[in-house]
Amino acid sequence: MEKSGEIKDYWEKRLNDNFGLHGTGFIGLGKKYNSWMYRVRKRIFKKKLSTLNLGYGGIDVLDVGSGSGFYIKIWNELGVKKIVGCDITNVAVKNLKTLFPDNEFLELDISNESIPISEKFDVISALDMLFHIVDDDKYSKAMENIYSLLKPGGLFIFSENFIHQIPKNNRYQTSRSLSDIELIIKRCGFKILNRSPMFFFMNAPVDSNSFFLRKSWRLITKTVQKGELFGSLLGFMLFPIEILMVSMKKEGPSTEIMICKKP
Ligand SMILES: C[S@@+](CC[C@H](N)C(=O)[O-])C[C@H]1O[C@@H](n2cnc3c(N)ncnc32)[C@H](O)[C@@H]1O
Repeated sequence: MEKSGEIKDYWEKRLNDNFGLHGTGFIGLGKKYNSWMYRVRKRIFKKKLSTLNLGYGGIDVLDVGSGSGFYIKIWNELGVKKIVGCDITNVAVKNLKTLFPDNEFLELDISNESIPISEKFDVISALDMLFHIVDDDKYSKAMENIYSLLKPGGLFIFSENFIHQIPKNNRYQTSRSLSDIELIIKRCGFKILNRSPMFFFMNAPVDSNSFFLRKSWRLITKTVQKGELFGSLLGFMLFPIEILMVSMKKEGPSTEIMICKKP
């Protein structure tokens, strides 16, 4: 179990030193490659939303683990009625309040026993943040909190690695198995609507033993680490292939996106 405050301290420092998509994205891969990774995320996220027939002008959205506000910006572009963002860090909340003065931001740990939000939401998004809750009990609590913050009929959109093999952990990230996550999600009361890939080549193949995918990821990271120009060129070249692969595949070797409904 992590020491209390250790996770918060880690994110405060990480985002203080690198506020932006290179800090919330794949740390160490630079600004340019990360900006191409986020272009993939935006395309896939918006495509998933377009299947849900959400009347954007009438919905209240909560974004959990907002970081540098990438999904806050998307929700604003879509014109949703109300946006509340939250993050465990003071640095994110402080910056987000300046960047998005029309939205509301709260500093909180979504895995805490109680959450200081009384209102309920039509949609909750939590992208690339749940796998950073390494403690299993806290992970389940975060899911329960999210469930209770939704209105009946509300949707939960999140990304995870949904591993099909033995779960992988490091100090600040846990890639849980698909079956464990499904169990936790269903235990909360959610109905799973669908799951599909977010990445194919452009992110770490944490859910694959393919020699080809592992080798190509090593090549990508080595190339990108040579400098921003390499990150920019490689991202530009890989982007169309990535969108094609992600839209063709039902299972991905890396991060995937899941949509659940509160009955
Ligand atoms: C990898 S970043 C992703 C940020 C953003 N969702 C995105 O996709 O660009 C993870 C974010 O979750 C926040 N976070 C980590 N654990 C959290 C927790 N228990 N409760 C709320 N936020 C948390 C971190 O501070 C960080 O901003």
